[in-house]
Amino acid sequence: MARSQIEEIKDKLDILEVARSYISDFKKSGSNYFALCPFHQEKTPSFSVNSDLGIFKCFGCGESGDVITFIEKMEGVDFPKALEIAAKKAGVVLNRNFSKKDEKLYKEKQELLKLNSLVTEYYNYILIKHKNGEKGREYIKKRKITKDLIEKFKIGYAPRSYNSLINFLKSKGYKIKDLIKWGLVVSVNGRIYDKFRSRLIFPLIDHHDDIVGFSGRTILKNTRAPKYLHSPQTITFNKSKFLFGLNQAKKEVRKKDFVIFCEGQLDVISSNKTRFKNTVASLGTSLNQEQLKLAKRYTDDIYFSFDNDMAGETALIRASNISHNLGFNVKAIIIKGSTDADELINKNKSAWERTVKKAEPIVDHMIRRLYKRLDLSDLKNKEEFSKIILPIISSIPSKIEQAHYLHRVSLILNIDEAILTEELEEIKDIPNNRIQIDIQRIKKLLESPVNIKEEYLLSLIFQHIEFIDTSLKLCKKSYFKSPLAKELFSKLEKYYKEKKRFSIKNFTSSLEKHELIFIQNLLLKKLQKYFKSEIDLKEEIESIVIILKKIHLQEKIKSIKNKIEKAENKKNNDEVKKFLDKLMTATDKLSKI
Ligand code: CTP
Ligand code: MN
Repeated sequence: MARSQIEEIKDKLDILEVARSYISDFKKSGSNYFALCPFHQEKTPSFSVNSDLGIFKCFGCGESGDVITFIEKMEGVDFPKALEIAAKKAGVVLNRNFSKKDEKLYKEKQELLKLNSLVTEYYNYILIKHKNGEKGREYIKKRKITKDLIEKFKIGYAPRSYNSLINFLKSKGYKIKDLIKWGLVVSVNGRIYDKFRSRLIFPLIDHHDDIVGFSGRTILKNTRAPKYLHSPQTITFNKSKFLFGLNQAKKEVRKKDFVIFCEGQLDVISSNKTRFKNTVASLGTSLNQEQLKLAKRYTDDIYFSFDNDMAGETALIRASNISHNLGFNVKAIIIKGSTDADELINKNKSAWERTVKKAEPIVDHMIRRLYKRLDLSDLKNKEEFSKIILPIISSIPSKIEQAHYLHRVSLILNIDEAILTEELEEIKDIPNNRIQIDIQRIKKLLESPVNIKEEYLLSLIFQHIEFIDTSLKLCKKSYFKSPLAKELFSKLEKYYKEKKRFSIKNFTSSLEKHELIFIQNLLLKKLQKYFKSEIDLKEEIESIVIILKKIHLQEKIKSIKNKIEKAENKKNNDEVKKFLDKLMTATDKLSKI
């Protein structure tokens, strides 16, 4: 590239202005401007910018350079990308020496980005102004999404129509073939129609502020349609490398020096009503390295806010493990009394803010969970405890924290710290320094035996879906005690009854995300045995049902006995008698199973 073009861009850009778009508080001192350094943590400003010379330097951490280097570091991109961003800011068109193939790809990409912008405006217009947007407007009101947020996230609405977008884009000269390729239009059995219908549209904006795709949430209740639809993989969009909200969040992440990972788009959007705008989410995929690395450009501290169930707990452990290996410090946000951040925020905004502030370091969280679950006077449990907690401790980045937790564990287990240190060193000898946490082991421990049996029963049903008639005849909703299993079973029952042609794929896409993850586990679980005949399956299901009934009755008996004891203490003879009767009935039932 011609050197003169780089110079031209640098000449046109005022480094102070560029820096100000990322950092808010600059104070003039002599011919320089000072602010808190965005590249390291400090309390007094040592980051200096000289507008005349077009350079910056931090006297705290030593980072320095010109406007392009600044963008490179700020955005976490390489030189060519930084130059591209700078060129855009300066209004300079880069004349690069592209190869023919590069050029074609580049042009195609630019074209798609342009189309996506147009589509964003179109859906946004419908939501805000058009008469066909009425249903969408009702929905955003119900979800408490404000005007500001609609603007900030460029939210739109795709009306009920099968061809409104098609007609609009046709009038703009777009070809159906391309629209299908970019996933805005679908073609099923020769019929062509808009992919997004009756959906709230969330443009998917990457951290360079490019609109790379779309996600749509259905506004219909009791629909067979999937709750969420996303753009397919295209030259601009890859779901597993995407973080929703990062474009809005990145500045705040730097400022607050931590990032919050929530479950979904609506959590991110709602969090923007609170003090915590440093919030992102993946699109229903479990987090991977790539996504976490995106966040790593802006901070070393991560807070996870996942669902409060077993699926969420497993996701938390898995994500923490990857995060630790990338050098993050990890905390867990524990939401009480609401299903997710969005719900809590709309109930009580400051409750969410308090909840975030109370986020618990992940090791403390795990210690607390295990401590509750295990009777640590038992030697075997002590071993189990350390087998789980030590790998987690050894994976946290800070040596000081490691020492701190090791000391705590030694107190809890009443075991010499030196022995634990030795164990820790052994774990650290694992090649590549990539410590894998044994998630199955943790799961088994945290789950109650009832959950395990219920899960097995559901796995049996879902993995033998060809015998679903038999399974549904043998099982009842009331056999399931854990809320998730109960909910899933009753949804299956209802869905199957209503649908003439049942398919597991359609069923799953109608579910909530936590259910989706749960059912994926059920479907993937390795069963001891697969049943080829209906009769064999029937036998197995019947035997599990009996075990479940027994467990339930045993638990009931335990609780009645507790109540009797309490009533006796209170010398309440009527109550004692009432519970004794109940105890009789329950033990009677148990003996008959
Ligand atoms: N998701 C998905 N497909 C589904 C369900 C969920 O892709 N069938 C993704 C979406 O990106 C969604 C995220 O997983 O935002 C979290 O899902 P969930 O918790 O079910 O939805 P919410 O974000 O809470 O949305 P809502 O509050 O509208 O239920
Ligand atoms: Mn929600």
